[in-house]
Amino acid sequence: MTLPVPMKTTAPPSMGKGTLSRQLVMRTTALVALVTIALSLFTALASFQILQNQLDDRLQSALSRPFDRSGGSSAPAGGSDPTGSGLIRIDTVSGQSLVSAKPDDLTEAGIARLLSLATSRVPVTMPIPKLGLYRVLVQERELRGVTVTTVVALPYDEVTNPLTSQLMMAGLLTLAAILLSYVGARRVVERSLRPLTRLAATATQVSNLPLDSGEGHVPIRVAPADANPASEVGQVGQAFNHMLDNVEGAFAARHRSETKVRQFVADASHELRNPLASIRGYAELTRRGAEELPGDAAHALGRIEAESERMSALVQDLLLLARLDSEPTLDLQPTDLTEIVLNTVSDARAASADHIWALNLPEDVVMGRADANRLHQVVANLLANARTHTPPGTRVETALSRLDGWAVISVTDNGPGVPTEIQHSVFERFTRADVSRVRQAGGSSTGLGLAIVAAVVNAHGGRVNLDSRPGHTRFTIHVPLA
Ligand SMILES: Nc1ncnc2c1ncn2[C@@H]1O[C@H](COP(=O)(O)OP(=O)(O)O)[C@@H](O)[C@H]1O
Ligand SMILES: [Mg+2]
Repeated sequence: MTLPVPMKTTAPPSMGKGTLSRQLVMRTTALVALVTIALSLFTALASFQILQNQLDDRLQSALSRPFDRSGGSSAPAGGSDPTGSGLIRIDTVSGQSLVSAKPDDLTEAGIARLLSLATSRVPVTMPIPKLGLYRVLVQERELRGVTVTTVVALPYDEVTNPLTSQLMMAGLLTLAAILLSYVGARRVVERSLRPLTRLAATATQVSNLPLDSGEGHVPIRVAPADANPASEVGQVGQAFNHMLDNVEGAFAARHRSETKVRQFVADASHELRNPLASIRGYAELTRRGAEELPGDAAHALGRIEAESERMSALVQDLLLLARLDSEPTLDLQPTDLTEIVLNTVSDARAASADHIWALNLPEDVVMGRADANRLHQVVANLLANARTHTPPGTRVETALSRLDGWAVISVTDNGPGVPTEIQHSVFERFTRADVSRVRQAGGSSTGLGLAIVAAVVNAHGGRVNLDSRPGHTRFTIHVPLA
């Protein structure tokens, strides 16, 4: 068994656009990205709340410290101060404002802005000229009969700075996570889908097998490593192998039954030859005393002879077809095709003087790679058809030529042509025109002549064509040159 390996495996690149692997990798990466981004945002939000609450607590404690009338120190010294640097405190008593704590850059406009705030119980965030964002709390209280309005403010940096660095860190981590998950998912997916690619390659190999001819042997299987049912892909591989087993089994069964039928036809044809020979022998024996036979008995004898002759031809054709089917091995030798054409045409001349037999041969001898006996039969069948399926006086030209490495033999007649309704199937077995027409022509029609032509020419690796219309019918066969 030769293993045909004309593999043009068209497996797409493993990460091609729209492939399953690409989709898996993209979706995994997208999911990881989504989760990390959501996580970062959530923690950032939580941190923001905590930091702002801390700041607000410090505003409250700055507020609750006793009013320092001496005031004026721009920045509280030392780390013992719970309010930290940047604190602004302005106390207003009956229209008189006193700034008891302030950073150097606090301008008059800034103070005016702070004083313009209405009293509120909750801290607000606002920009202060030259200083940036500040968290501000304003409180009003009665102190020994006088209303004291106190404004405390702390730089909002203490919330934004740690938050910014946290967000930057989270961004970097997110990027790293995305990159890592992309690389990881790609590796995992590629590795787990690789057996699938091999499976596709195997399927392509099988689809390239010539299963229509031969014993239908399927010598290809998925490798055992890819047919391990422990994984999903392995299950596909296993199912694929089972399917191939099944297909091969079916082909083998079909081949066996076909072989049986062929053998039966061959045997039957063979067995029929002897009784047929006896019938013809007895008919001939009876004909010797034909003068004594009554008229209708003589007619019946004629029919017996004609029909047994027809049956002999049929049996011979069947036997030949059965042989060509079962062992199409021909004896292919360099063969003188010119000689074959000359011989068959001279046989045809002898068989019918009513037809005009023309020849068209090249100057030199044409040698083909052919089985001389079988090819002789092919040309003889074509000429017999031209003789039996055309009226007397028909011109039949047999031509031989070379064309592109082929020897071309054509038989052309100017008879009525092959009926259109059978032209498509004329090379199939038992295809023939209306039987009565043939009977009139006196031929012994079996409908197997052209089937034999096709089978023999195919076994030569050649081909046969028909081109027919009323007044022009041409059968052309191509066989390889020697
Ligand atoms: N040269 C031809 N002219 C017209 N009809 C033809 C010719 N050759 C073949 N045919 C048609 O094709 C049919 C099939 O031919 P063939 O297979 O040789 O069977 P058979 O000759 O035994 O009938 C014939 O019955 C006939 O109708
Ligand atoms: Mg014929």
